[in-house]
Amino acid sequence: MSVFEVIIYEKRDGIADITLNRPRALNAYNLRMRDELYEVLGAIKDDPEVEVVILHGAGEKAFCAGADLTEFLTAPSPVIARQARFERDVWGRFLGIDKPIIAAMHGYVLGSGLEMALCCDIRLASEDARFGLPEPGLGIIPAAGGSQTLPRTIGRAAALDVLLSGRWLTAEEARRLKLVNRVMPRTDLLPEAEKLAKKIKSHHPLAVRYLKQAVMRGLDLTLAEGLELEAELGRRLMSLSR
Ligand code: COA
Repeated sequence: MSVFEVIIYEKRDGIADITLNRPRALNAYNLRMRDELYEVLGAIKDDPEVEVVILHGAGEKAFCAGADLTEFLTAPSPVIARQARFERDVWGRFLGIDKPIIAAMHGYVLGSGLEMALCCDIRLASEDARFGLPEPGLGIIPAAGGSQTLPRTIGRAAALDVLLSGRWLTAEEARRLKLVNRVMPRTDLLPEAEKLAKKIKSHHPLAVRYLKQAVMRGLDLTLAEGLELEAELGRRLMSLSR
């Protein structure tokens, strides 16, 4: 039973399942969601029972339609609205989890919704998914890491095209750009996410965590440093499993 208001959190057999749950507002990211995600991600990080995470959106129409524009527009100023979001480093929490996070996306995936997905490790999308970062049209720039995570995911030229034009991508174009790993019919989305989570979970949990660490930390290192990191993590894993 979830104790949250705008997300649903369930844990089943080592898989943590987070549902963004404001379907009437297309799961727009508001302050309440910020606080609840911050709390649940902290719990997931420290919970030895959780090995894999799935993130998805409730309702028919959206994974998440971005920052809650009603909060944004009623705040004393866009700057204050932005600052409120920075009071909790939700994006840092996403990126600080060394367990794989799968985003399963359908419908609208806009603004912070897309940025949240970019903080995940494997992105699955249904055929009806539409992706966009409408920030420049609102006179702002992404504030949930999008200007950094998007180029690191799809490369500089493609990222600048998406960021500067504000144009939306279909699921198929997102797949071609490697923004999403796989596209599938809507009815397959959650079953496929679950299947993938179970497959990952069938492996040794420490091997999975060290592998994610090797990839994520290695991306900020030179190849030589990355190879050292891999060797070090490998040694640590061997000594722990002996
Ligand atoms: N913040 C707050 N409420 C939002 C929202 C957001 N980002 N996006 C959608 N909603 C609400 C709508 O206000 C509407 O509420 P209502 O039924 O009380 O009027 C409800 O969700 C359904 O949205 P609606 O606009 O009727 O659906 P649609 O299918 O016609 O259009 C979108 C969908 C996504 C194109 C449109 O809602 C939209 O442009 N949303 C804003 C996207 C955006 O700019 N996000 C911020 C990025 S920084």
